[in-house]
Amino acid sequence: MAAAREICVSDTDLIVAREVAECFIRSTEQKAHGPFRIALSGGTTPRQLYAQLTGPQCVGRVPWSRLEFYFGDERCVPPDHPESNFHLADEGLFRPLNIPLTQIVRMEGEDRHPEQAARRYEELLRQRFAIASPHWPAFDLILLGLGQDGHTASLFPGSSALQETVRAVVSSESPRGVRQRLTFTAPLINHALRVVFTVTGRDKAAAVRSVLEEETVDAGQYPAKLIQPMEGRCLWYLDRAAASQLTMPTQISK
Ligand code: 6PG
Repeated sequence: MAAAREICVSDTDLIVAREVAECFIRSTEQKAHGPFRIALSGGTTPRQLYAQLTGPQCVGRVPWSRLEFYFGDERCVPPDHPESNFHLADEGLFRPLNIPLTQIVRMEGEDRHPEQAARRYEELLRQRFAIASPHWPAFDLILLGLGQDGHTASLFPGSSALQETVRAVVSSESPRGVRQRLTFTAPLINHALRVVFTVTGRDKAAAVRSVLEEETVDAGQYPAKLIQPMEGRCLWYLDRAAASQLTMPTQISK
């Protein structure tokens, strides 16, 4: 039985980024030994989180040398492309902190055969976690965003990837922007110890309400509904604008 989603609403997107950074730090503190394995999300929202994590309030409180960085999804573009999720993290996190390449496990978006790249990444995951199918790698933390259409990672409405129950990483297609994608599947995400959604802006309010409050809405239409970790925690960090259509009581952080 999946644990209840935990929802934290903050006044502004800046406070949301601060709250997520604190959650990130607490998560690393709760794993005293061994690599802390985190999967980063894409889009634009992570920029503010990266600015917090590399800022003076946080940078000295993270055990950077113990972190292994993975990607929950990637656009099929070269790693130096402005649309690349790796590029976003490289600029905002890896270069400023001199994170060595040995701690970064990049999805090869540049591969002209996305399905092969997806299978290779899954193999890499299984090697790094030392876990074979049918068992699932369990990330310490997976960061996710939410699209206005209810997609998360690169799991888009109507995609066959939503029905995947065996593979951990697949190729998928976006209806907009860079079409070809690589993405974690819902079962892989749902085996994480902690999943954190960061969603800000009024343009996401309808999708937030559909995913969090509308039981009748089909997960095929709003793929983020599929994300309900079996044993891990699922935390939603929202600003007031993104939470503006919710009817449920929510904790407000100032
Ligand atoms: C991607 C992301 C995607 C993103 C949402 C929200 O590669 O685009 O992983 O799932 O998190 O689309 O994007 P914004 O942060 O830009 O609103």
